[in-house]
Amino acid sequence: MCGIIGYIGKRKVVPVLIDGLKRMEYRGYDSAGLAYIRDGEIVAVKSMGKIARLEQQLQDVDAESHIGVAHTRWATHGEPNEKNAHPHLDCTGRIAVVHNGIVENYRALRKYLQKQGHRFTTETDTEVIAHLIEEYYKKDIPFIDALTSALLQIEGTYGLAILNADEPNKLYAARHGSPVIIGKGEKENFVASDAAAIIRYTNRVIYLNEGEVAEVTDDGFEIFTLRKDRVKPEVQKLTMTLQELEKGGYPHFMLKEIFEQPATVRNSFRGRLNLEMGTARLNGLKSHLDVIEKLKRIVITACGTSWHAALIGEYLIEELARIPVEVEYASEFRYRSPVLDDGTAVFVISQSGETADTLAALREAHNQGVSVFGIVNVVGSTIARETDAGVYIHAGPEIGVASTKAFTSQITVLALTALMLGRRRGIVSTERGYELASHLAKIPEKIKWILDSQTANIKKIAEKYHKKNNALFLGRGINFPVALEGALKLKEISYIHAEGYPAAEMKHGPIALIDENMPVFFIAIDDLMYKKVVSNIEEVRSRKGKVIAIATLGNEEIRRYADDVVYIPETDYLLSPLLTVIPMQLFAYYTAVLRGCSIDQPRNLAKSVTVE
Ligand code: M6R
Repeated sequence: MCGIIGYIGKRKVVPVLIDGLKRMEYRGYDSAGLAYIRDGEIVAVKSMGKIARLEQQLQDVDAESHIGVAHTRWATHGEPNEKNAHPHLDCTGRIAVVHNGIVENYRALRKYLQKQGHRFTTETDTEVIAHLIEEYYKKDIPFIDALTSALLQIEGTYGLAILNADEPNKLYAARHGSPVIIGKGEKENFVASDAAAIIRYTNRVIYLNEGEVAEVTDDGFEIFTLRKDRVKPEVQKLTMTLQELEKGGYPHFMLKEIFEQPATVRNSFRGRLNLEMGTARLNGLKSHLDVIEKLKRIVITACGTSWHAALIGEYLIEELARIPVEVEYASEFRYRSPVLDDGTAVFVISQSGETADTLAALREAHNQGVSVFGIVNVVGSTIARETDAGVYIHAGPEIGVASTKAFTSQITVLALTALMLGRRRGIVSTERGYELASHLAKIPEKIKWILDSQTANIKKIAEKYHKKNNALFLGRGINFPVALEGALKLKEISYIHAEGYPAAEMKHGPIALIDENMPVFFIAIDDLMYKKVVSNIEEVRSRKGKVIAIATLGNEEIRRYADDVVYIPETDYLLSPLLTVIPMQLFAYYTAVLRGCSIDQPRNLAKSVTVE
């Protein structure tokens, strides 16, 4: 959700903060703001909209300040206007707070603080934090004590960076439920919600744990619990590179990330496939394999695109390992008292590793005493750290809000997991294992083939349909979740209403929507259900719907039924989602471009949803 950054050190602070904000803009982009200390006073500058507007406002400011905090916002409480933009100040204007998270008891706190005489100027939940610290910050009370006392009153989640004008050589940070890292530099230190904001300056970081507070100066830092016990920090090295955070010549991150997929899928299986033995090895799960292979049931929980990957995982694991799988929306899982009996384990899937709903589901599973395994992209993220074990998907930083390369990497890891379990449980033979492993090894070149040979075609299809208001995506079997994903991609970035359905379900309702204005995407590859899908296509055609078929290369017959055809190379049915999704990602992308939408930062969305 929101991105926060704080800096103290040898550089002028404003350019560092602006640069950091730009790298986190994908976390939220309703408004932005920063505050720095100059001549013992806090100067705050805020702006509605994107970071570029804030930057413009600051272009003539050459602030001789070396300490500050900044924020890019995804609004939760209060309209996304300039007033509600962070930083938020106390009554004296000497305490500035930037916050990622939600203060759930802010109404009660605000009422209490108003009674004590505090004047509020915004509608946000965050403003209570500044006033609450002010309330405790009395003569002879050290600021850190006032801060911890205030934080103990807060219910909800926070990742915070805080300035106190009385201490121009100290920056404060705190974490509860929203990620915060400290970046360790030479004669400078950073606080951020996201490694991307600081990787340009340092790759040495400390992840704050839940309920920890940090006091940061230019040459060091100290970490405490809220009860003021000192914590020994563990410095870790980031593997991310600055280059991975650049667009690399592409107009948008989303397009770059779509075109990265031959490489990212390869990275996901690199070193993990054993062709000779027809199996896979996943070191992250190694020490738990004896338990996992004997499971009676697996529950996979996730949100959004990761949830779609989970549905594909259900097909893969049930087919190859014969372990019953249930897939749950993480947001529902936590609140419906799930039955997690002996012999059940939970897998959580998350690109960011910070999604609040998924994290809450993970914690619910732990509370019920079952093991939780992670399939995560962001190294060192909260979900990665709280799971019992897990596998990184190695897709590299995904910046576009619409998830693309993380999806294919998640499927790759799920296929590896299913293959490994199937082999260990004696369900998949060495021959079948070899066949699957060899098909998987060829997926990168097949994705590349689609990107090279079908992109122009897909662009034309987008030109034809980009003015439509609705679209349907239909698929069967393991490609049904891909239909859901195709619809989600289109909705997210082009704002066209789209639905994904199992193709055969169409006749039970959605068929009523079909007329000459309805583009219908069919995943009609050469599998066991091909003939049935062709019948579904006929049903759409006879009602004048427009058919776009994603078909297997070499199938010329399909041209008789479809208005447009996009080809994908042949592969094993179980791996086909890795190919069928590519045209859908490209279609959503080019449609959104033609509609003039904000591709990497679609309205109302944020890359990582750290509120429930
Ligand atoms: O980081 P996560 O994988 O946990 O995020 C889950 C969803 O918020 C995410 O997939 C979202 O649906 C994307 N915007 C999809 O493109």
